[in-house]
Amino acid sequence: MNNTLQYLVRCLGWDLRHLPERDLAAMPDTVDDATLQGLLESLIVPETWFMRDREPFEFLTSYARRNWLKRAEPCRMLSVPCASGEEPYSIVMALMEAGLPAGMIQVDAVDISCRLLAAARTAIYTGRSFREPGQARHADYFQPLAPDRRQVRPALRAAVRFIRGNAMALDECDELAPRYDAVFCRNLLIYQHHAARRQVWRQLARRLDKGALVFVGHAEMLSLFASSCRPVPHRGAFAYYYQSSEDAAPAPPTPVPSSAGRTEPTLAEARALADAGRLDEAAVMCRKLVERHPLDAAVRLLQGIVLAAAGQMDAAEYCLERALYLDAQSTEALLHLALLKEKRGDGVGAGLLRQRLRRTAGDNCRQTAGDLTGGAA
Ligand SMILES: C[S@@+](CC[C@H](N)C(=O)[O-])C[C@H]1O[C@@H](n2cnc3c(N)ncnc32)[C@H](O)[C@@H]1O
Repeated sequence: MNNTLQYLVRCLGWDLRHLPERDLAAMPDTVDDATLQGLLESLIVPETWFMRDREPFEFLTSYARRNWLKRAEPCRMLSVPCASGEEPYSIVMALMEAGLPAGMIQVDAVDISCRLLAAARTAIYTGRSFREPGQARHADYFQPLAPDRRQVRPALRAAVRFIRGNAMALDECDELAPRYDAVFCRNLLIYQHHAARRQVWRQLARRLDKGALVFVGHAEMLSLFASSCRPVPHRGAFAYYYQSSEDAAPAPPTPVPSSAGRTEPTLAEARALADAGRLDEAAVMCRKLVERHPLDAAVRLLQGIVLAAAGQMDAAEYCLERALYLDAQSTEALLHLALLKEKRGDGVGAGLLRQRLRRTAGDNCRQTAGDLTGGAA
C-alpha cells in the first residue's frame, strides 16, 4: 500500500472499498500536505441536509423538552462529522423548538474538510440543503438572501463552533469540551473499516456520561454499540442512550493471536487479525471457524468482510449472502453486501439491499425498544 493510501486508511480510517477502483489506481505514492488535502477534498462524501432523516431531530426536541428545560448549564452537543453545517444548525433548531434559548445551546462541529467547514461558517444554503418536507418555522431560523438562498440567523450561528479535526484523533483536539450531553456521529462510520469505527467510538465515549444521547446514521446501528449503549424507544431516531464506559478505556494494543499451541480459534481472534490487516491469516481462521460453526451468521459475516478486503469478491459475496440467510436481520451483512454490489457495479442489487437495510434497521430499533419498554414503544 502506498503512502497516500496508508494515510487514508490509517489516519482517516477509510475503508478503501468505498473508493472507486479508478481513484485507487491514480493515487500518488507520496504527496505534500497541500496536495493531500486537495485529494481528500475530492474524495469525501459531502452529502448532508437540514433535519436529515427528520426523526432524530424530533426525538431530540421531545427529549430536550422533557429533560433539559430547567438546566442551569448550557446543553453541550457534538456533531462529528458536520460536513457543511446543516447537521449542527439542525441540532440548534431542534433544541430551540423544545424551548431552549439559543444562549443555552453549545454545539461543537468537527470535520476533516476545510472546504466544507468554510461553507458551514458562511451559513448560506440553497435548495439541496432543504430536502426534508415540513421544516417548521423557517423564518425564525433563516434570513432570505435571494429566492433560492437563505442564511442561518446570527443567534443560531453563535451557538455553533466549527472545528477542523479528524474523528480518528479526537483526543488530540484541545478545543473539544470534556463532556457532551449528546453526540451526532452520522454517516461516517459506514465509510470506515472496523478498527477505525472502534477507534472513533472509543474516543467519543470518553466524552459521554451515562444517559448521554448517541445519534448514528440509519445504517450504523452496529454491533459496536451493543455492549455500551441501549437504543432509545423512538422509531426511526437511530439513537442510543450511552450506558457504560467499557469501550471508553484507553485503547489496548490490538491483541493479535499467536497460533502456537492453539486448537480452537475464536471469532474475536479472527477479528483481531483482520483489524491488524493480516487478511490471509484472518481468512484461514475464518475458514476453520466456518467448519466448526457452519450455522453461525457472525462467522460467515466476518469471513465475507475479510474476503472482500482481500479482493476475493465472488467468495465474499457468497459468504455475505450466507450470513444474511442465517440472520435475515443482520444490518451489517446487508450493509457489506450492498457495498460489495455497488463496488461491482450492480447498482440495482445494491439499491434493493439498501432499502431492505433501512427497513431492517427500523425494525431492529423498534424491536429492541419494545423489549426494553415491555412492548410499549
Ligand atoms: C456524508 S457526510 C456526513 C455529514 C452529516 N453527519 C450527515 O449525516 O448529514 C461525511 C463527512 O465525513 C467527513 N469525514 C470523513 N472522514 C473523516 C474523518 N476521519 N474525520 C472527520 N471527518 C471526516 C467528510 O469530510 C464529510 O464531510
